[in-house]
Amino acid sequence: MRLGIACAAAAVATLHGAALADEQTFAARPANGLALVPPMGWNSWNHFGCDISEATIRKEADAMVSSGMKDAGYQYVVVDDCWHGERDGQGNIQADPQRFPSGIRALADYVHSRGLKFGIYSDAGDQTCQGRTGSRGREFQDARQYAAWGVDYLKYDWCHAESLEVRAAYETMGDALRASGRPIVFSICEWGTHKPWLWAASVGGNLWRTTGDIHDGWTGNARDRNGVLYILDLQSGLEGFAGPGHWNDPDMLEVGNGGMSADQYRAHFSLWAILAAPLMAGNDLSAMSEETRRILTNREVIAVDQDRLGVQGRRVVRNGDTEIWVKPLEGGSQAVVLLNRGVVATTIRLEWSALGLPPYVPLSLRDLWSARELRPATASVALDVPPTAAVMVRAVPSRPGEVRPPVSAPRASSGSARSP
Ligand code: GLA
Repeated sequence: MRLGIACAAAAVATLHGAALADEQTFAARPANGLALVPPMGWNSWNHFGCDISEATIRKEADAMVSSGMKDAGYQYVVVDDCWHGERDGQGNIQADPQRFPSGIRALADYVHSRGLKFGIYSDAGDQTCQGRTGSRGREFQDARQYAAWGVDYLKYDWCHAESLEVRAAYETMGDALRASGRPIVFSICEWGTHKPWLWAASVGGNLWRTTGDIHDGWTGNARDRNGVLYILDLQSGLEGFAGPGHWNDPDMLEVGNGGMSADQYRAHFSLWAILAAPLMAGNDLSAMSEETRRILTNREVIAVDQDRLGVQGRRVVRNGDTEIWVKPLEGGSQAVVLLNRGVVATTIRLEWSALGLPPYVPLSLRDLWSARELRPATASVALDVPPTAAVMVRAVPSRPGEVRPPVSAPRASSGSARSP
């Protein structure tokens, strides 16, 4: 019954663009069982913008396989804005015949033939952000079309949708995807404007953008030019809303697009991993440097992101330009990012208290970028962090399950180590 009311409300909002009253009740939709770990893949927007074609997408799918990205866990190849042509006589959405002459079904088949999954983009308004055909009023028809094409992932944007009630609009497409009968990951993209972390999962969202668009820079917060640090700050406090099947999305990766240093890209990737963020590469995979490839395929960092516990890391220390972020992992270890936001090299001391551990616990620490074990320590460890960079470690209790407080002298020896 409540489900029926919610569906009707969604239909009204969609058909007439009416803003629903705040007190409108919604029934939470059951989870679709997808994205139990944060989705990993590639999306065309950050590098190619509207300059896409079926040849480009095939090339990127090929590169995802040949570069080792697929083996590292990347799965979805997502075509963002600008693939659209006009609707046909029956109202079915078609691909741009010049840029995608073989059609979307053939492209999805190709991506699937490479052992990957295929994603597409639409918008809750009647136009996309780049003025292509949106899904408003055609949600169920479009979802059926996507399913028939073999789409596995939909990114659903919010341009030209101001007159709609946001939750009803996303609920309509969520219901449409479910009704399509195909498992399709639902990526909600309304830029955090209406606090989607409060409602997006209940309309079937598997991930939701928490901010405006990222840009390929360390700092900056102009409209749609949000640097890594600006976006990072907006994630703090949202930890409780993420979990298996439903993730905060701080936007796609800029690693390899050329606007940041290698240290900054490693920090960007480390931070997205500790946030349990979707890892959607946004560079040209077919032409990436070895350095970029090594960042994007660092399996130990990826394992932090993909950890089955699905806990989003949190900032536990903020001290001027230095920060410590911690993410608990399955099996009792913890991932830690020591971040130096500033332009001067520094040393960051990680006290066991920041990990919720007493000082006498011996911890093994592994540096996830140098892939080296650090000297086991108790109480704290001091690590050198270059300017605008991060160090990422995994902290593992040396003898899991056997740690006991010392009989006497509970204050451990200094135990501090500096990174080599
Ligand atoms: C919005 C989204 C971006 C991208 C563009 C495409 O700005 O936030 O991620 O999809 O639209 O036009």
